[in-house]
Amino acid sequence: MSVLSAARDGVNRALRPFGVQMVRGHSDDPAIQPFLSARRTLAAARRAGVSVEDHIDRYSAAAGATAETVDALLRLADLGEHVERVCEIGPGSGRYAARVTAATHPDAYEIYETAGDWLPRLRSLPNVVVRPADGHTLSATATGSVDLAHAHKVFVYIPLVVTVGYLDEMARVVRPGGIVAFDVVNENCLDAATTKNWVASGATLYGMISRTWLLDRLAQRGLSLLGSHFVPLSGGRTELLVFRRA
Ligand SMILES: C[S@@+](CC[C@H](N)C(=O)[O-])C[C@H]1O[C@@H](n2cnc3c(N)ncnc32)[C@H](O)[C@@H]1O
Repeated sequence: MSVLSAARDGVNRALRPFGVQMVRGHSDDPAIQPFLSARRTLAAARRAGVSVEDHIDRYSAAAGATAETVDALLRLADLGEHVERVCEIGPGSGRYAARVTAATHPDAYEIYETAGDWLPRLRSLPNVVVRPADGHTLSATATGSVDLAHAHKVFVYIPLVVTVGYLDEMARVVRPGGIVAFDVVNENCLDAATTKNWVASGATLYGMISRTWLLDRLAQRGLSLLGSHFVPLSGGRTELLVFRRA
């Protein structure tokens, strides 16, 4: 094993409780954060004899977390059984994409994914349109064109300014009456026990964003909060926020 691989394995051991791994060939743009290696994750799910969704749920959150999150999103969004276009930032393994697609049968499901090793799997989902992911924008998506713009476990670990840029982009691409949904770590997620645990374990991966500030900023862009749902995250929780565009 090379010195570099040994160092990477050491870092990955430290990151494991947070459900993230460093992989080779990653961008040096700080906006683009590493994700689980597709090869290793798919192999681990196969070895365990479970679906990739179940494997990631167990590894990084809690059993059933993906299904519960999508159910909450769809209940709050009330999109019906057919939508024209969905746009997802950072779909990773496609665990949310598969469920949202099965429920809403979109004509097009646009994805912006910076981890190239997951793209072959994502391309196998129905009606997927792989957009060029620059790590910052939804530049290939027309203004006011999508019924649902969403992201999961992305805005918990990319830099704040990149999240804010993406939120502006989501507000731009969603059609009037459409839905914007994403989860974040905010003040509702950091109770004393979680904060103590994160300090003790040196959980440098996550960033917090103020809920009030977020709601004000999105309200200025025509997005009003429909409701929210807490989602497990290893060692804590995030809050899924669901908005409708005026
Ligand atoms: C923690 S993973 C979550 C993946 C998936 N949404 C899920 O919950 O299983 C974050 C995802 O965002 C992607 N990502 C990281 N930085 C990004 C960026 N700047 N723009 C778009 N995607 C990004 C990663 O490659 C990864 O797929």
